[in-house]
Amino acid sequence: MNLLDGKVCAQFYKDQIKAEAEQLTAHRGRKPHLAVILVGENPASQSYVRSKVRNCALVGFESTLIEYPASISETELLSKIQEINLNEAIDGLLVQLPLPKHINEFKVLESIDHRKDVDGFHPINAGRMNLGLPSLLPATPYGILLLLSYYKIETAGKHCVVIGRSNIVGNPMSRLLSRNTNPGNCTVTQCHSKTQNIRDICQSADILIAAIGKAEFVDDSFIKQGAVIIDVGINRIDDASLAKGYKLVGDVHFHKASPKASYITPVPGGVGLMTIVGLLKNTLAAAKKEIYS
Ligand code: GUN
Repeated sequence: MNLLDGKVCAQFYKDQIKAEAEQLTAHRGRKPHLAVILVGENPASQSYVRSKVRNCALVGFESTLIEYPASISETELLSKIQEINLNEAIDGLLVQLPLPKHINEFKVLESIDHRKDVDGFHPINAGRMNLGLPSLLPATPYGILLLLSYYKIETAGKHCVVIGRSNIVGNPMSRLLSRNTNPGNCTVTQCHSKTQNIRDICQSADILIAAIGKAEFVDDSFIKQGAVIIDVGINRIDDASLAKGYKLVGDVHFHKASPKASYITPVPGGVGLMTIVGLLKNTLAAAKKEIYS
């Protein structure tokens, strides 16, 4: 079993991003600048956002964190987004999800200028991705593609099973791995919570991507000997013996699954770190106007 080490891989890409950011900053006299909007006090969201802001500083980006209480109105949020859309000193904007129930998530995502949409969730970016056109890509699937590239994992012709159908991970991941690109050219089967015989389907996977949000759902009985296992889950499990009061586990039972895997991502220290890389690469691309001029 080989570990797909998100820490080592993320550092490799962050060194590249930092060097490119320095060049761009010298050229145009301004750092790449990411704005992050956080609504409410979801502890996981707070932790992700802190990590995004911290990583911006590490690669020489500027960042602005805008925090609102969960009671903010949709109108007020939309007007802030409009203000950022028009602010030429800001290159990228993301609104951390999930949003409180009284706010229409699709309306919010659609209101972001697609050229600044570093999460790749705007219908223009999602649509272009589905058509195989250049676009800003959702950060987690993008990070997974970068991880597969870094470790030179062969994907062409392989059977890839994706568990999950979210617009953040499962749907774009399935699409990206089906494309005629490298990584890509997989035969993709997409499973979800209503799939029958999910274990049997997973057993035929050369590459298994678990993004279902259920702690340790995938164990050794799901896995073909030698499969590549990508664990997208980050689940908090109560553990009073730890200072934090919880531990993080993936959607894969690491200790049961790893003996059968040829490669596997740990949680934490795997895909989560690569999501940040995807976001940073999108922010740099937006700052450089690489996709939309
Ligand atoms: N919530 C869970 N994953 C993500 C993500 O990639 N971006 C945003 N904005 N919110 C999320």
